[in-house]
Amino acid sequence: MSFYRNAVWFVKGLQEYTKSGYEAAAKHFNPGDLDVNLTGRSFVITGANSGIGKATANEIAKRGGTIHLVCRNKERAEEAKKNIIELSKNQNVHVHIVDMSSARQVMEFAISFAKSNRVHVLINNAGCMVNQRELTEEGIEKNFATNTLGTFILTTALIPALKLEQDPRVITVSSGGMLVQKLDVDNLQSDKGTFDGTMAYAQNKRQQVILTERWASQHKEIHFSSMHPGWADTPAVQLSMPDFHAKMKNKLRTEAMGADTVVWLAVSAAASKQPSGLFFQDRKAVPTHLPLASSRSSPAEEEKLQTTLEQLALKFKP
Ligand SMILES: NC(=O)c1ccc[n+]([C@@H]2O[C@H](COP(=O)([O-])OP(=O)(O)OC[C@H]3O[C@@H](n4cnc5c(N)ncnc54)[C@H](OP(=O)(O)O)[C@@H]3O)[C@@H](O)[C@H]2O)c1
Repeated sequence: MSFYRNAVWFVKGLQEYTKSGYEAAAKHFNPGDLDVNLTGRSFVITGANSGIGKATANEIAKRGGTIHLVCRNKERAEEAKKNIIELSKNQNVHVHIVDMSSARQVMEFAISFAKSNRVHVLINNAGCMVNQRELTEEGIEKNFATNTLGTFILTTALIPALKLEQDPRVITVSSGGMLVQKLDVDNLQSDKGTFDGTMAYAQNKRQQVILTERWASQHKEIHFSSMHPGWADTPAVQLSMPDFHAKMKNKLRTEAMGADTVVWLAVSAAASKQPSGLFFQDRKAVPTHLPLASSRSSPAEEEKLQTTLEQLALKFKP
């Protein structure tokens, strides 16, 4: 089954996730959707010092939004802030240093941020693919800690602040790679079987899609979406998937192409008219399962994912 899923997914990717896939899809975009003035709206973007996150921050800053860059490295974050201000002429760009793989840091940041700032839109973009099984200082597998637990803690801790605002949104940058995975709720930290970083990452991205669906049904006041940016040429792809990058580099999307649907989900009126909880690719809601892939999980498994995360998060509550 996994061979079938991987093969079907790769053929789909060659058609849709590449630069030419973006160009074909973009013919149907409504260019006016991004003509918005974001003055007075506040955007929290994780992993915004590079790649898709930085391209997203640039587009939002150009439209007048207040940007909060949540990054782990001060130097890289300050450099990105400088570039974004130069390009957008928008001074409302702020840096927060948070390692998203540290549940304690994420919890502390979210609580202190919500005390003194507003948040209209949260963009969960930071992500990693670590190819060896490594544990964080808190003893949690690194891919899961960053992609799933960090995203879960930040989102749930900011939900009360989001609910205070008009038209609040949460966008989670998942990946089409999640299509090859079925939720494996009994192996969330990949401690069973042989470790495969690509599959651990894809499993985390599946978890993000499921969490988005659950949050949407539990918090009707907030508009939740998850999305796939396509295959974009970013440092993460260069470093974590060097063979894929070498083979595909002429076919990859630019960072701005990868960011387009994130921006559309975060700012357009058209996006907020879509039902909450869906998975998007190139400004369109798309299925979360490949045909005949047997990748659907049961409601009980999905509830267990959420309760396991709640229990883990509880350990880091002050
Ligand atoms: N590019 C693609 O083809 C593609 C496809 C599907 C999904 N995605 C998703 O798109 C998102 C953005 O990735 P990208 O491709 O734009 O790569 P990127 O340019 O390398 O960006 C990843 C960002 O996440 C940050 N990050 C990673 N671990 C972190 C941590 N522990 N704490 C705080 N920040 C952390 C990175 O910070 P540093 O600079 O400090 O490392 C960087 O800012 C990711 O969620 C990725 O999974 C990308």
